[in-house]
Amino acid sequence: MKLLMLVDNKNAVAKDGKQILYIDNDLDMFKEYTSNNVIIMGRKTFEDIGRQLPNRTSIVFTRHKREEKKDLYYVSCVAELDRVLLNFKEKEEFVIGGASITELLWDRLDTLIITRVDTVVEGADTFIPQFEGFELVEKSEIEDPDYTVYHEIWKRK
Ligand SMILES: NC(=O)c1ccc[n+]([C@@H]2O[C@H](COP(=O)([O-])OP(=O)(O)OC[C@H]3O[C@@H](n4cnc5c(N)ncnc54)[C@H](OP(=O)(O)O)[C@@H]3O)[C@@H](O)[C@H]2O)c1
Repeated sequence: MKLLMLVDNKNAVAKDGKQILYIDNDLDMFKEYTSNNVIIMGRKTFEDIGRQLPNRTSIVFTRHKREEKKDLYYVSCVAELDRVLLNFKEKEEFVIGGASITELLWDRLDTLIITRVDTVVEGADTFIPQFEGFELVEKSEIEDPDYTVYHEIWKRK
């Protein structure tokens, strides 16, 4: 299972219920990685995105029952996630946030695909763990007019 997220230099991911920053080339990369695959997220992230993303399977963690749709599953625990994933064995699984779901599934992550914005976002209030136990295996720059941004790939040691 892979993590796909954008962070600042302190591993902040959100501020006031929104993602810390949006980087055009990061959105393109997100689409490339996740299209035709499975994305796993928390209910707050699903609501922040605001819609079901096309051409991929969405699995949303919530403790409340919700009505499922084509390509959209709700799960209330990891065992339920595993049951849904059995249907998608041939696909890649991307955890896309937020922080609570990242922490919940942390031990299952073998790869962290990180968009690192070289800044510290003041007032950020939601963070993911430091990448202890992982090693950086790839780093390249992502073009952006406003920020220095890196694409980092971390693998579990
Ligand atoms: N920087 C990035 O790349 C990035 C990516 C994604 C999201 N974000 C940001 O992160 C923020 C959201 O992160 P978050 O950590 O606050 O929320 P989240 O993980 O997106 O969602 C939290 C919700 O997930 C459900 N949940 C959490 N743990 C659960 C468990 N053990 N079992 C069942 N359901 C569980 C609950 O839903 P119910 O309340 O419905 O029960 C909970 O309220 C948003 O601002 C979003 O924009 C940033």
